[in-house]
Amino acid sequence: MRRVVRETHLEPSNFILPLFICPGEGVRKPIASMPPQCQWSIDAAVEECREVKRLGIGGIILFGLPESKDEEASGAYADGGIVQRAIRSIKRELPDLLVITDVCNCEYTTHGHCGKIVGGEVDGVVDGVVDNDATLEWLALGALSHARAGADIVAPSDMMDGRVGAIRHKLDENGFGNTPILSYSAKFASVFYGPFREAADSAPQFGDRRSYQMDPANGREAMREIELDLEEGADMIMVKPAMPYLDLIRQARDRFDVPLSAYQVSGEYSMIMAAAQNGWLDEERAMVESLTSIRRAGADFILTYFAKPMARLLG
Ligand code: PBG
Repeated sequence: MRRVVRETHLEPSNFILPLFICPGEGVRKPIASMPPQCQWSIDAAVEECREVKRLGIGGIILFGLPESKDEEASGAYADGGIVQRAIRSIKRELPDLLVITDVCNCEYTTHGHCGKIVGGEVDGVVDGVVDNDATLEWLALGALSHARAGADIVAPSDMMDGRVGAIRHKLDENGFGNTPILSYSAKFASVFYGPFREAADSAPQFGDRRSYQMDPANGREAMREIELDLEEGADMIMVKPAMPYLDLIRQARDRFDVPLSAYQVSGEYSMIMAAAQNGWLDEERAMVESLTSIRRAGADFILTYFAKPMARLLG
């Protein structure tokens, strides 16, 4: 009877698995704070993607750990960059697996910020601010390099103002008018990204991200951010993190008739895994309940590190 009257349904296609791509060959390096997630070299990632495809999971989103970083985030938009090469290899083997790419600079800059820094050193201490407008060109070039390599969807996560418009313009100009943009529209300056910054080696070396990510206190501003992204040409939107922001997922669902996603971020995942490892929570039930809640709040699809076990359970 419960099955017949249930309001919210989960399917493997509702989930997108984040994958961290690192240099080397045959590498599967466990991420300590996010068991059993790993960093994958490109060849190992291709094998992991076969499993993702076999389980019927909606797709993957790629993050890159480049061989080297610099002030200009050049690895983020190089045609031979780590993510660009990963896309080509995955698409060669699995052409119909949905490949989304995270478009950002923090994994590629020496200072770990998502944009170009102006200001430099103050009394020998590195300091400065992110130059919003100068960063737009890096992001547009990054998205274009991903599209050229074969990405199906590009997903800017940097939170610079105007980046959706800049990316849309660059893609259109270069013959990628059909590549959709999934915008991390309402992305909060959250403590729950902690484990990710270990996984992607992207912690800021000074300051924090509060000059570009949102204040967790502001819900109306989140709706405004989404509206602006849609005006600039976003095809799909995201609320991130997910569980602490279910109210905003619901508000976005009621206000905007475009595909809506939510990111169950690293800290949300690690909290459940840590409690489960201590025997304080049942891992499977916590996974199902958290993902059901995010879908019930209104998310069409969820970026989650639980994509594989959840798909397996739905079998
Ligand atoms: C890049 C980015 C971050 C996440 C996704 N893209 C980190 C950040 O903004 O600091 C976090 C994802 C997670 O915690 O799982 N800007």
